[in-house]
Amino acid sequence: MISPAMRTIAVVNMKGGVGKTTTAVHVAAGLAARGRRVLLVDADPQGNVGHALRVHPERTLKDLMLGEATVEAVTVRGVRPGLDVIASTPAAFSLEVQLAGAVQRETLLARRLRTLEGYDDVVVDSSPAMNLLTYNALLCAGEAIVPVGMDWLAIVGARQTLDGLREIRDLWPDHGLQVTAVLPTAVHTGTNAARAAFEAIERDPEMGGRLWRPGIRQCIDLRYATAAHQTIWEYAPGSRAAEDYAAFVEHLAGRPREQEVADGEVQKEQAVL
Ligand SMILES: Nc1ncnc2c1ncn2[C@@H]1O[C@H](COP(=O)(O)OP(=O)(O)OP(=O)(O)O)[C@@H](O)[C@H]1O
Ligand SMILES: [Mg+2]
Repeated sequence: MISPAMRTIAVVNMKGGVGKTTTAVHVAAGLAARGRRVLLVDADPQGNVGHALRVHPERTLKDLMLGEATVEAVTVRGVRPGLDVIASTPAAFSLEVQLAGAVQRETLLARRLRTLEGYDDVVVDSSPAMNLLTYNALLCAGEAIVPVGMDWLAIVGARQTLDGLREIRDLWPDHGLQVTAVLPTAVHTGTNAARAAFEAIERDPEMGGRLWRPGIRQCIDLRYATAAHQTIWEYAPGSRAAEDYAAFVEHLAGRPREQEVADGEVQKEQAVL
């Protein structure tokens, strides 16, 4: 965890193409639009956050991780009102090798971000894999959002991701990472396939309790919005996805932080990393 004063949310699923980046961008932009000060960090070397918001700085996450640039130097300010971004590029793929011998390399990002000030929320996008950067994303965060596709293999992927999160809780027992929401994406409302997928998620003892219904409906405008480097609220404010992501952000914003709920735990969490 970076700091108990900030809400830190990692968006994770080891399955690819399930809406992680779309969710990370819209959660970050949505919280910023509600007047919160938000930092969106791309912990995926695909660099899709930068492509989605047209942010292509010279200094990126890789420089921060390697200690070659400060947080201030890698942060792009004012991408939207209240929204700053730390971008990534494929150069970050080599971090796995470059940091092979580094001590406590899984908590490197959390330690690099420890001096962060002035934000209410930090949202971290991650790769479709449980790799070093994903561990770093999760060990920055107090909460995880797991977007889940509405087909069988996507549900298997979400299940595997939750197993991975349990492993992290076992390895870092004091970290206290919580799953805030299992978020269905690209839902074909009213189809048998969607009904079957919801049933399968609800049957799962861990996923069922965290499922956020009705999820984000299938909406082609999300693809066009990404291509136009806009959020869905900018590109198609009247669309289904604009409505669904607004409702999801509202749900998140209304949820009290774990730290606020468990005041006494704050000092313990602070001491972990
Ligand atoms: N609700 C939706 N309806 C329609 N298309 C969607 C929806 N959510 C996401 N998409 C589209 O699906 C594609 C994959 O989404 P996204 O890039 O967010 O997934 P990802 O999990 O981040 O992928 P990766 O694992 O490669 O990082 C994108 O083209 C995106 O616009
Ligand atoms: Mg992505």
